[in-house]
Amino acid sequence: MANIERIGPSELVAQQAHMDRVRAFYEVHGIEQPRAFVRTYGCQQNVADSERMKGQLAAMGFVFTDKPDDADFILFNTCAVREHAEDRVFGNVGALKKFKARNKHLLIAVCGCMVQQEHAAQKFYRSYPFVGLVFGTHVSHRLPELMAGALLEQRRVVETPTCDGVIAEGIPVCRDGGFKAFLPIMYGCNNFCTYCIVPHVRGRERSRDPEIILAEARELVAEGYKEITLLGQNVNSYGKGEAHGVDFPELLRRINAIEGDFLIRFMTSHPRDASPRLFDTIAACEKVSRHFHLPFQSGSDRVLKAMNRHYTREQYLELIRYARRVIPDISFTSDVIVGFPGETREDFEETLSLIREVGFTSLFTFIFSPRKGTPAAAMPDPISAEEKSAWFTEMTALQEELSGERLAAFVGTTQKALVETDAGDYYEARLPDNSVVRVQAAPEDIGRHVQVRIDTARSFILTGTITQRL
Ligand code: SAM
Ligand code: SF4
Ligand code: F3S
Repeated sequence: MANIERIGPSELVAQQAHMDRVRAFYEVHGIEQPRAFVRTYGCQQNVADSERMKGQLAAMGFVFTDKPDDADFILFNTCAVREHAEDRVFGNVGALKKFKARNKHLLIAVCGCMVQQEHAAQKFYRSYPFVGLVFGTHVSHRLPELMAGALLEQRRVVETPTCDGVIAEGIPVCRDGGFKAFLPIMYGCNNFCTYCIVPHVRGRERSRDPEIILAEARELVAEGYKEITLLGQNVNSYGKGEAHGVDFPELLRRINAIEGDFLIRFMTSHPRDASPRLFDTIAACEKVSRHFHLPFQSGSDRVLKAMNRHYTREQYLELIRYARRVIPDISFTSDVIVGFPGETREDFEETLSLIREVGFTSLFTFIFSPRKGTPAAAMPDPISAEEKSAWFTEMTALQEELSGERLAAFVGTTQKALVETDAGDYYEARLPDNSVVRVQAAPEDIGRHVQVRIDTARSFILTGTITQRL
């Protein structure tokens, strides 16, 4: 049984005193309004964590800057999922050294999944002496205390305890997403896919209380957010082992019942726990997006087993078929890994055939990256990097061909879309299947639903004309 620490607002009172100490530090040094630069790597969960740390920084009087050379506090929230992500962090943190030389009160901090691994935390401590604070995923609610230690006591602080996990409620949030909001419903992961570092750095699966989630969702709707994305590494196992008896379909139903004009999305679903009942619930909930992200990772049963995914190719395809029966307009995206240790050309071809069979809107494609301490990193891996890279190219070419055909079928149709971003020469609007269309729009259209006539589909880019504002 996992030992989960639940921390409520009353336990966070201690952090108030540390906030005052941090504020006093800057006042004494004549810095009236300290500036913070926060960079986030990795998944939406990390973005949501950064939003909470920014909430704490704002409560300590910080304003935010997008220029690290302008900052009094620099925070890098890191990701460990692939080697490439880690290399980028080491390089980018290294480049901060010159700022520290210029500003003696600058505090540079590195936190998140990467430093939850002993070897990475050690490397920051030993080889990056200008990094003053290193802290892991289980202590981010204590940011004020950790900063106060580093600033007032002028010592380097490293705090990366391993534990089953913490749920901290009542932390202020400073959201980045305009009209879109992330709402974490659970943390951690128990699945231990053999290639994945996440369960090792994020602790055991734990669910937030449904009443707290619902209260936060109501607040977001009242504040005018148009899209709420429920977050968890495996949202389908929400509520498992909890006495309240609210599982993921029930949670969706309750959020769907909140009055207002908003869309519910969620990430990520594990096929092992995606049930027909979940699809029935989505079919019955008009506010839940018809776009579904369902990572399959491999089309080969042999590789799925070696990955410890606990489903077969056929079970995955059956889920897709069921979903399409009950929600005819549903669309799928997915994650897939190429070059898992021991994967053969035949295994890879099964992945290609699954991609053809399902017809995904888009795919997030990755080349296997060995992660220290995971079982897959120790498996024999005879396929060369060149061959993996060639397979990767072949797979992305297939997906591009399929996406091209899909997009071409939109031309001449009129679709409902949500205007999301001002991209300079055009605005980007999102269709219900998660495709993006470029339109001419106005700043006040952002966050608004419109009807768009799709005019062209060239080089995987849709362009269209707004015919009606809804
Ligand atoms: N929990 C989610 C799930 O199981 O679908 C995804 C979590 S992970 C942050 C996002 C994706 O990264 C995974 O779906 C997988 O495709 C990829 N990934 C994870 N570990 C990897 C590794 N060692 N090498 C390559 N890709 C990896
Ligand atoms: Fe990693 Fe698997 Fe957990 Fe996803 S379900 S976070 S891939 S271990
Ligand atoms: Fe990366 Fe951690 Fe997310 S390893 S993908 S930031 S949970």
